[in-house]
Amino acid sequence: MRYDTFLDEVLVKVKTYLAEDGTLASSRDSKSLAKTSDLKLPLEGSDLSSILVDIDDYLQKCVKTNHPNFMNPLWGGLNIAALAGEIIATLTNTSMYTFELAPLASLIERSILERMCEMVGFSNGGGTLTTGGSNGNMLGMLCARSRGEPLSQRRGIDGTKLAVYVSAESHYSVEMSANVLGIGLDNVIKVGCDDDGRMRPDKLVEEIERSIAEGQRPICVIATSGTTVRGAFDPLVELSEICHKNEIWLHVDAAWGGSCLFSIEHAKLMAGVELADSVCWDAHKLMGVPLICSAFLIKDLSLLRKVCSHGDAAHYLFHDETESDDLGRLSLQCGRRNDALKLFFAWRERGDSGWAKMVDGYMELAGHLESLVVEDPQLELMSSRQWTNVCFRFKAEEEEDASELNTEIRERLMQKGNYMISRSNIGEDVILRPVIANPGVTKESLEGLVAEVIAHGEDARRGIPSA
Ligand SMILES: Cc1ncc(COP(=O)(O)O)c(C=O)c1O
Repeated sequence: MRYDTFLDEVLVKVKTYLAEDGTLASSRDSKSLAKTSDLKLPLEGSDLSSILVDIDDYLQKCVKTNHPNFMNPLWGGLNIAALAGEIIATLTNTSMYTFELAPLASLIERSILERMCEMVGFSNGGGTLTTGGSNGNMLGMLCARSRGEPLSQRRGIDGTKLAVYVSAESHYSVEMSANVLGIGLDNVIKVGCDDDGRMRPDKLVEEIERSIAEGQRPICVIATSGTTVRGAFDPLVELSEICHKNEIWLHVDAAWGGSCLFSIEHAKLMAGVELADSVCWDAHKLMGVPLICSAFLIKDLSLLRKVCSHGDAAHYLFHDETESDDLGRLSLQCGRRNDALKLFFAWRERGDSGWAKMVDGYMELAGHLESLVVEDPQLELMSSRQWTNVCFRFKAEEEEDASELNTEIRERLMQKGNYMISRSNIGEDVILRPVIANPGVTKESLEGLVAEVIAHGEDARRGIPSA
């Protein structure tokens, strides 16, 4: 088959996939999926036409993350301009390390980072696109380590003397970072939260004082703007005051909540972010840019350059005369995808006002879901809502175990395959946590979700098997 005929056919399949309103998820059982799928890597290859069959099979069996009932992770849907960016980036396959190999892409990435820096209030800052919020958190902690222990890059560190502080509800990537950076999990101090899941400044002060008394040196506070489960925003102004007083680096994990900055109404959730030292912000979450697309932003770009200076000796790649243009000098990666183009196209199409409208619309939908929950006597809201996370559960009767009941409801939802939402915990309680991060979600899909949760709850209570 000729490559142009093949591509025409691929495009038809893409358009059909986008137009279909089919099943959200068709299979969850790995054994039966493996049995019904051809996973062999052949000795001899076949014609491009056989790939069309593979594509059909894949599209039929994948989870339809652009389906209006997909509300499970902190991302969903599809931005078409970004899809075009992804295709063109792959078509023109390059690596972002040097200007020589990625001339316009480097300027595009820089322009995006400058705009995002402007939005967080880092007027002379800069940054890099990374592989995700997890890596952004690690870069933040690495910069903090370098500030706190300037010789650590060369000599290594004895992490046991250092301490890092996060909210008890922070993302697990903070622990991953402490592991990778030699700080150690025991030196990640979980600071207590208030009833709404926000880090308590008074508890942070207590923990800092306790660490100092025990001979540790506080080097970094990681605040979260939009926690994974509850969507809580830590109080950045208060936390920054504590950090400045104690000369501690403040990194803000805004992987999930960063997009609030587009909205005039909701930007206040991150009030004080300009007082931080670094921020990570995932465009592949609420902004709906296809994974992966994530920014790490820093006020003092020279520190990022320092912690990423290993490539200076790479004479085969970096040359003095292009130093200021080569983005590879600001990254821990060597080969790096062009993730900027899809965000660029999406931003050009939407503009700031389009993103703002999207954020406000998502918040309105989340408010609608919240009121459906609050108004229904069979449901209970399990945390106050700050962002688009709505944490709730089906109410248990006296003799019932609410966590078991809601685990069963989630299982039934997954088996039926009409809706996808997350099962999480708040303290000991199992809760249901849909999020709004998918442009396909509508008031009707939320009403359908609530009706289905209640129906499964009633069936589970009566021991009626799943349909
Ligand atoms: C608050 C928070 N931070 C960081 C991350 C990690 O982001 P990524 O998946 O882009 O590595 C997540 C992921 O859900 C998150 O919720």
